[in-house]
Amino acid sequence: MRIDVITLFPDIFQGYLSESMLKRAIDRGIVEIHLHNLRDWAPDKHKTVDDKPYGGGPGMILRVDRVVPCVEDVRAMCPDPGHLVMLTPQGRRLNQAIVEELAQFSRLILLCGRYEGFDERVRLILRPDEISIGDYVLNGGEVAAMVVIDAVVRLVPGFLGDEASNREESFSGPDRLLEYPQYTRPREYRGFRVPEVLLSGNHQAVAEWRLQKRIERTRRRRAELLGGGWRFVWAEEAEGHGVAGELPPTLPGGKQAEQKEPQTPAGKKSSEGDIRRPESSSHGASEGFPAQPPED
Ligand code: 6GU
Repeated sequence: MRIDVITLFPDIFQGYLSESMLKRAIDRGIVEIHLHNLRDWAPDKHKTVDDKPYGGGPGMILRVDRVVPCVEDVRAMCPDPGHLVMLTPQGRRLNQAIVEELAQFSRLILLCGRYEGFDERVRLILRPDEISIGDYVLNGGEVAAMVVIDAVVRLVPGFLGDEASNREESFSGPDRLLEYPQYTRPREYRGFRVPEVLLSGNHQAVAEWRLQKRIERTRRRRAELLGGGWRFVWAEEAEGHGVAGELPPTLPGGKQAEQKEPQTPAGKKSSEGDIRRPESSSHGASEGFPAQPPED
């Protein structure tokens, strides 16, 4: 995967990119990351990229006649036009489903804002996929871009080595529950013992216990992820029947989930609207559950 980052502060990325996991992936050719300084697209001698807002108000606005040519030039640097992502607090809020979407593209162009934001015409002309990393305000899109990179590259084949570690992660897999608790040696510490079932060697029992913990944990900590779905009731009620660990998750509408790769926007151009549906599957388990259980 190729990732291009457009920013006024490329140096912010240097430490992160030269660290551990990501550096290894770059060295092994699994990802390539290209940094571009927006200021290089300012033709005037003072290299101005921003200006005061029309109508007055605080702060400075990034100029459309700097940003648009920059994105177009960066886009033309390789044959794959890539998927343009604008980091902005007004974007759709990042979650693992969106990360999975982004990971399907072979090229991403991440556009970082600073100051009070972009001239509105940047959005109108470039139609970026606008992404926010949460409901709080950052000083700029750089940290958010690093979050996107960090989450996406984990899904690039070969990055983790053991791809199974992705399926067991919180928010991953078809049910998007939180992860189960993990333990390692020692068996007992300050009176806290490792749960007996994990020492039993009974794989079926371990799988059941883990599913139960994931459900319990998600309900206590992040009940909104459960979306009031009935499938969790079924999963719990299956407990003791010797099948809980094997139950395929149920999707909105009561259908059984197929155990296969998620639907992807592979090959789609950024100009196509359907990967930006506000009510898309990106909400994962949190929406679209039936109000009533299906009839028997
Ligand atoms: Cl992507 N940018 C900024 N400036 N603030 C944010 C954000 C992005 N996501 C959450 N807050």
